[in-house]
Amino acid sequence: MSAFRERYGPWALVAGASAGLGEAFARLLAARGLHLVLLARRADALARLAEDLRRAHAVDVRTEAMDLSRADVGAAAARAAEGVEVGLLVYNAAHSAIGPFLGRPLEEHLRVVDVNCRGPLALAHVLGGAMASRGRGGIVLMASLAASQGNPLLASYAASKAFELVLAEGLWSELRERGVDVLACRAGATRTPGYAASRPRRSVPLMEPEDVARRALDALGHGPSVVTGALNRVAAFAFGRLLPRRASIQIMGRATRRLYG
Ligand SMILES: NC(=O)c1ccc[n+]([C@@H]2O[C@H](COP(=O)([O-])OP(=O)(O)OC[C@H]3O[C@@H](n4cnc5c(N)ncnc54)[C@H](OP(=O)(O)O)[C@@H]3O)[C@@H](O)[C@H]2O)c1
Repeated sequence: MSAFRERYGPWALVAGASAGLGEAFARLLAARGLHLVLLARRADALARLAEDLRRAHAVDVRTEAMDLSRADVGAAAARAAEGVEVGLLVYNAAHSAIGPFLGRPLEEHLRVVDVNCRGPLALAHVLGGAMASRGRGGIVLMASLAASQGNPLLASYAASKAFELVLAEGLWSELRERGVDVLACRAGATRTPGYAASRPRRSVPLMEPEDVARRALDALGHGPSVVTGALNRVAAFAFGRLLPRRASIQIMGRATRRLYG
């Protein structure tokens, strides 16, 4: 734990920390002794979590209520982290527009791009620069199994997750020379408020957020991406390596239509 803190501390910034996987990351990082900057829109949820973490782990926690879709997200995050040394960024927040592409307003798809693409890019740039000049640090981007191929009814979301995956892979190669570990976490279905709010019509095997977050933190420094969960690893191998791309799109499409069609 102290090796983790020395490599990725003393502070971590979790973007999208008030619930679900982001909350799980925050809890695990506090348990590893890192001080935290927590960002999300809901100030009350952040304040409750921060109080919990201060009490349980004697760490410092800053919170900042902000919408990560804002155009100046990099500068806003830098202000939230002003004066502290952020050695780890976890970009966890995401927006999804579920349903037929043409049936959702353009604004919603653009919000997917803002939160899921511009946000992680800007924060990786702003915070990664300081990490690289210190010669140590880590960046975790929450991607998804959906990043592997096009996905009907989730077209803009899946494309945004592919952006995060490919961004993380490129930065993994580029920044490792500067001492910064970068990882994309390709999670499958996980029991979170966000997943429940998507109102899937069928039940599928779900992972627990703590298990996904722990696996991601353990994988940091050991390669450009991790697929969490044995079932998900089989799926990622089949869809990404075994099947022709067209077949992967069609099979994922059928599964998504059963869930959300
Ligand atoms: N759950 C799954 O099945 C699953 C599967 C694969 C990948 N993932 C990925 O894992 C990550 C977390 O998913 P989750 O299911 O834990 O989501 P969630 O339960 O909906 O939680 C999302 C978190 O991000 C924050 N957030 C969302 N939009 C934001 C915005 N515009 N500005 C600031 N904060 C924002 C939310 O807080 P506020 O509402 O307070 O802003 C919340 O803290 C996402 O990147 C998702 O794509 C999830």
